[in-house]
Amino acid sequence: MAGGYDDRDGKIWMDGKLIEWRDANVHLLTHALHYASSVFEGERAYGGTIFESRKHSERLHNSARLIDFEIPWTVDEIEAAKQEVLAANGLTDAYVRAVSWRGAGPDMGVASARNPVRLAIAAWEWGAYYGDSKFKGAKLDISKWKRPSPETIPSHAKAAGLYMICTMSKHAAEAKGCADAMMFDYRGYVAEATGANIFFVKDGEVHTPDPDCFLNGITRQTVIGMLEKRQIKVHQRHIMPEELEGFEQCWLTGTAAEVTPVGQIGDYNFEVGALTRDIAEGYEKLVRS
Ligand SMILES: Cc1ncc(COP(=O)(O)O)c(C=O)c1O
Repeated sequence: MAGGYDDRDGKIWMDGKLIEWRDANVHLLTHALHYASSVFEGERAYGGTIFESRKHSERLHNSARLIDFEIPWTVDEIEAAKQEVLAANGLTDAYVRAVSWRGAGPDMGVASARNPVRLAIAAWEWGAYYGDSKFKGAKLDISKWKRPSPETIPSHAKAAGLYMICTMSKHAAEAKGCADAMMFDYRGYVAEATGANIFFVKDGEVHTPDPDCFLNGITRQTVIGMLEKRQIKVHQRHIMPEELEGFEQCWLTGTAAEVTPVGQIGDYNFEVGALTRDIAEGYEKLVRS
């Protein structure tokens, strides 16, 4: 029986070796804990194979560079470590979390060039991220927080510091009985959910925000490829809030979310229509093929 995430049986890969799950600890004076110098990946294994594994490892490296550190393990080494973690825990269908951060060391101020960069990988079984929303359509709140300008923060990094407003948005959403929140960006355009990208359907064509100030998700790119294969026109563009009223269908994409239909955003309603179902089912098939 699983306890808290710190209290489970199993192995975690940390800085080059597998250790006991409960021993995967860091010191209080870890730089990342104080200054958010941390990047991570969320990945899913299906039948023993991590979908787009290499792209995730490459993005981890890229995220680290975007926040000014270099991970001391190559992409190939990270790939091997992820497989080791799955095997050591006897997992085939699992969520994989890789995280890299500036650890404890000689520096405890904002600058931290001398502290070691750490890397850890854990994996566990994780079902549908939005519970039964997959069937009936998720209900989303509209967040008061805006995705920040790329001049404010490296918005394309999957970095811990970018998730502070996501956690606050999701807490506010859950308090209202919603599964998640949709966020606008700093200019007022529709951006994404707190951990997933967003798509809309109108008159048989698909519209999705231009990812110019948030993560261009790997699932998002996969789904755009699926739509193009089906010869469905995809408009990647800035979407104004007043357009929400005219969209007929909506779904979210993300490694954890997979393809999740959306039934409601604030006061706007969407049907879980044929295209949404087709893409959700097609994605399920693709990740297992
Ligand atoms: C803020 C945010 N946007 C989008 C995504 C979707 O990215 P991906 O499809 O690569 O998982 C995620 C999930 O990682 C996320 O956390």
